[in-house]
Amino acid sequence: MFKSPKRALVIALVCALGANAADKFPGIGRTATPAELKAWDIDVRPDFKGLPKGRGTVAQGETLWEAKCAGCHGSFGESNEVFSPLVGGTTQDDIKTGHVARLLDPSFPGRTTLMKVSHISTLWDYINRAMPWTAPKSLKPDEVYAVTAYLLSLADVLPADGELSDENIADVQKRLPNRNGKTWAHSMWPGTEFKGTVKPDVQGSNCMKDCGASPRVASLLPDYARDASGNLAQQQRLIGPQRGLDTVPKNKPAVATAPATKPVAELLQQNACYACHQIDTKLVGPAFKDVAVKYAGQADYLAGKIRKGGNGVWGSIPMPEQPALPDAELKAIAAWLAAGAKP
Ligand code: HEC
Ligand code: HEC
Repeated sequence: MFKSPKRALVIALVCALGANAADKFPGIGRTATPAELKAWDIDVRPDFKGLPKGRGTVAQGETLWEAKCAGCHGSFGESNEVFSPLVGGTTQDDIKTGHVARLLDPSFPGRTTLMKVSHISTLWDYINRAMPWTAPKSLKPDEVYAVTAYLLSLADVLPADGELSDENIADVQKRLPNRNGKTWAHSMWPGTEFKGTVKPDVQGSNCMKDCGASPRVASLLPDYARDASGNLAQQQRLIGPQRGLDTVPKNKPAVATAPATKPVAELLQQNACYACHQIDTKLVGPAFKDVAVKYAGQADYLAGKIRKGGNGVWGSIPMPEQPALPDAELKAIAAWLAAGAKP
């Protein structure tokens, strides 16, 4: 039927490739290319399937950590300013037993990442796909190995002159403090690949008749808490504005957007400066009173600084840039600060 076996193979392959998406969903989309699949398929599994080859030392990791991670997580992963701590609470004994004893100690104040995590693959995968927060997926595999090695060295899982690589990661896993802390008594999907039972513990069975009313799943804010953190609709975070609910209490008039003839207090509220600053006390950022003392009369400097953001003057947490702040409002705020931040 076919002139050559090679030609038959080519035809079979073309059919197989075309069949997938086109047959199942005619007229919709196309089959993903191998390159597209590869870009998505980055998960690293507990058996290290999916882990790219590479290596990084604790020392290389320390340098990278200082440059790319310490600003948010602290020099030693202690993260004591805003974020929850990554390192701490594990002991040499835990490294021997594979169970973090302090997880059972109600008087111990916190639960750090290294107390909880049971697989290095989880740590590696998470850093690789999600960190640094402001530039996810920007680290090369060797860099992920290095920062992971540095984190592990802080918990004495690796020595200070140690290295993490695709070759030794399975051995390093054997020293992870909470490696035996996970229960295997249920599965997330059918099969026994990860020691689980054959049936997953969640059965997605659809109700087909006499079904109950659909539950309404929603979060709500009690009235007394509505303006506890300013108006959520105007939140500005390091990664940009977050469009939340308008939480101005119902009995107070909502702040309307209007030109900068408004009192500065309203501009600060409206531009979410109060999320991080207060007039008299330090919050995430410095007290406006202190800023006013430091830069008395320097309205231009202040305007430039508010627009561009930056860190290192008052601490390690950055002030986010304010590209959307209208010029007139920026000038009014800067002038008010330069004149002493008076109410
Ligand atoms: C701009 C701030 C920021 C920077 C910089 C940053 N992180 Fe994070 N990191 C976060 C936040 C916020 C979370 C929690 C995110 C969440 O839960 O969705 C987090 C979570 C993590 C976690 C998981 C903690 C847990 O228990 O779930 C790890 C591990 C981590 N970061 C490592 C790193 C590493 C390594 C770097 C540097 C390459 C880095 N981070 C840089 C903000 C940051
Ligand atoms: C996400 C938190 C956050 C928000 C929102 C924020 N700031 Fe800041 N701001 C900071 C931090 C942190 C610093 C300290 C930065 C440093 O140490 O250099 C800071 C510093 C400043 C400074 C002093 C700059 C310097 O060079 O000393 C001024 C002025 C300032 N902020 C004004 C504002 C104004 C006005 C707004 C609203 C438009 C605002 N900030 C919103 C966190 C924030």
